Amino acid sequence: MSRSDRFLRALRGEPVDTTPIWIMRQAGRYLPEYRVTRQRARDFLTLCKTPELACEVTLQPIDRLGVDAAILFSDILVPLEAMGMKLTFSDGEGPQLDPLRDHAGISKLILPEVDSSLGYVMDALKMIRRALDGRVPLIGFAGAPFTLLTYAVEGHTGKQFAETKKLLYTAPESARLLLDKITDTTIAYLSAQAHAGAQVLQIFDSWVGQLGPDDFRVWAAPYVKRTIDALTPLGVPIIYFANNGATLLSDAAKLGAHALGVDWRLPLDQARALVGDRITLQGNLDPTVLFAPIPEIERRTAEVLRLAGKTRHVFNLGHGILPPTPPEHAEALVEIVHRLGASHP
Ligand code: CP3
Repeated sequence: MSRSDRFLRALRGEPVDTTPIWIMRQAGRYLPEYRVTRQRARDFLTLCKTPELACEVTLQPIDRLGVDAAILFSDILVPLEAMGMKLTFSDGEGPQLDPLRDHAGISKLILPEVDSSLGYVMDALKMIRRALDGRVPLIGFAGAPFTLLTYAVEGHTGKQFAETKKLLYTAPESARLLLDKITDTTIAYLSAQAHAGAQVLQIFDSWVGQLGPDDFRVWAAPYVKRTIDALTPLGVPIIYFANNGATLLSDAAKLGAHALGVDWRLPLDQARALVGDRITLQGNLDPTVLFAPIPEIERRTAEVLRLAGKTRHVFNLGHGILPPTPPEHAEALVEIVHRLGASHP
């Protein structure tokens, strides 16, 4: 058994030589080599749309950190652009979209031909698979329908999510139309990714924690389930990450995903009690622990491993790695997980 298959084995619940690890946002601004490549592209979206550059940054953390999976370099918002929304990323301000708040605007969104309008993503996946040459599996991804709805309606990263909640509660038909269109696009997009070479698919529900359990069952879960049901016949394992989703986890476990991402707020033994023993858990070291000295990182990592138990665990941070993280601390984390994961009780 080796680095090339321990991630896939853990997703299937098979025994592993040590705990596999990858890191959300592992290709990003905390790496000096990412910042160098980023300078060569006019802006962040150009980096995503240039397969050679997207491939280059995807590979950067693979050798440097020794992680057990690669994740496509892209962004969850590019399918909204393909559906007809104007998308820009300005430095330091995050994403900006022209917000959609009425039925007429939502009606105009198109169901894109993903192989042409998102063809740069498929080209990047093929190039990355070739460059990886079997070293580690490749993860493709998309945003979950509810999270993409928040960006479409707010126009940027939400704070109070007032516009989102107004749409849900005052124009439920429009909200359903928007979620249906996003779901259809996401299904086509993720299945194209699998055909282009993605070996695992992760669905990021970054803002679903804004919903209480009742609203989760109405506005999020059915669309995630429809997506997973449509993709399951492809035979590619699916990870669903419901960020800030402690109160949603027992419902999330019923959606058909092979694995659930868990943020750092919920200890993994409690997560395990909520989801049963037939699902893999992925997580969940607090990303800010990587600011601590290495012995403290080791102590906290050992605790995550202990709470996770021996099987059905993929190590990750509880959310994306932060730009001020020292790269040596990310390198140390991977070494610690592999060393302790090989021998933990
Ligand atoms: O994990 C990886 O290494 C793959 C790449 C990846 C990016 N975005 C690159 C990126 C992935 C998987 C994403 C997903 C994504 N994008 C999510 C879901 C994950 C999460 O964090 O909850 C969300 C909510 C977005 C939307 C988005 N993209 C925001 C809010 C921002 C701005 C915040 C920031 O960090 O600046 C982005 C930009 C972005 N996406 C960057 C990167 C590396 C930074 C842009 C830059 O290099 O200037």
